[in-house]
Amino acid sequence: MKKVFVQTFGCQMNVADSAEMLGALVARGAKETADIDDADIILVNTCTVREHAEHKAVSYLGRLEKWKAARSGRVIIFAGCAAQRLGEKLKKSYPFLDIIAGAKGIENFGGVLDESGLFGAEHGGDIIKKSTVTDFVTVMRGCDFQCSYCIVPSVRGPVKCLPPKDILAQVKMLVARGVKEIVLLGQTVNAYKYEGIDFADLLEMVAAEPGVERVRFMSPHPLYITPKLVDVIKNNPKIAKHVHLPAQSGSDKILKDMKRGYDAKTLLDKINALKNAGVLVSTDIVIGYPGETEEDFNDTLKLVDAAKFSFAYCFKFSPRADTPAASLKNAVPDKEVEKRLDILLNKIKGLAAAAYDSAVGTRQEVLVETPYKGRTSGNLWVKFPSKQQAGNVVTVLIKRSDGTLLYSE
Ligand code: SAH
Ligand code: SF4
Ligand code: F3S
Repeated sequence: MKKVFVQTFGCQMNVADSAEMLGALVARGAKETADIDDADIILVNTCTVREHAEHKAVSYLGRLEKWKAARSGRVIIFAGCAAQRLGEKLKKSYPFLDIIAGAKGIENFGGVLDESGLFGAEHGGDIIKKSTVTDFVTVMRGCDFQCSYCIVPSVRGPVKCLPPKDILAQVKMLVARGVKEIVLLGQTVNAYKYEGIDFADLLEMVAAEPGVERVRFMSPHPLYITPKLVDVIKNNPKIAKHVHLPAQSGSDKILKDMKRGYDAKTLLDKINALKNAGVLVSTDIVIGYPGETEEDFNDTLKLVDAAKFSFAYCFKFSPRADTPAASLKNAVPDKEVEKRLDILLNKIKGLAAAAYDSAVGTRQEVLVETPYKGRTSGNLWVKFPSKQQAGNVVTVLIKRSDGTLLYSE
């Protein structure tokens, strides 16, 4: 039996896609291995959102030449977003590469395998997976926005929402395997719409599945944070009280240039609506978008202060080929970007610590993920004094915080 090693880079969408692609390989007789030296097939699922991510993917591929040569019959599959962007021209520089499977073609991955003639016929068979407490379910693919800096729409294509019945079937399958927390995935997941069923409806449907203890989702777009959605999150105890809502900037000018579709005030109103519903809000911020002045950056700091995010991923702007922002001439000098990033990261660290500290003295429902650790509904990590059963939901009193971890009684 052929053994496959899976290497995934990038976001949770890629994690979910890797599982799907692995499923197609397993259905054709392969078996997963955690040891690359033992593998006959390697599946590399790649990211290209920033230049650094693509570089990582391609240099990983470069290093596989030796791996492939070490044993005959080995197969390299290069998949995902970087594979989509670079396409067949990769084979010129990396002639040892067998299959390129771009992110847009994920639904036809089985067909691509069959066409290659390198695998057996599909005969069914399921992935034997270590049961996890949390797992991902893709509810929509692609993105219909055109944020000026972003390559995702070009490598993932337009939005396609999956039918609720398929989503629920997937949820049922995961629950039967022991999964307790479902994370619904989409690039603008709350823009989900399928024959009159919107994202708030879908959330409730998933939360109502027997055996589902908690539902999270990633990543929502601020434009689709509706009063209805806020209400559903607020009133349904199974829906996590945490939303990761990418802001990108707090400057109206930069938000407009980025074509995000909202200004800082609209965004802050949505954040406040979520916070008033008891939700912790975290975010993504891009620093050094072309033309970002000191004043624009200060507006971002102001937004961060007002929103009191529980966490933020901060990224240096990275020009991506064929995106509108890539051809802008007014780049922010790297030294300045570094300086701003430093200031922002410091602030975020303080806010994250404050989010942890403010949970001290409260009772929290914690989903146990490892014997000694779990997460609150608001996505804060808790350490237990004694061993717990993974998958259980325990109600604990939070005794203290060290700013990055809560300690329970
Ligand atoms: N679909 C999600 C996120 C997509 S990519 C959303 O729109 O919210 C994840 C994050 O990467 C983005 O939120 C953004 O902060 C960052 N990002 C995207 N393109 C980037 C670029 N060219 N340079 C730096 N950061 C970028
Ligand atoms: Fe990229 Fe914008 Fe789409 Fe998010 S909403 S994936 S940032 S284009
Ligand atoms: Fe995700 Fe990277 Fe693709 S962030 S959508 S894997 S470009």
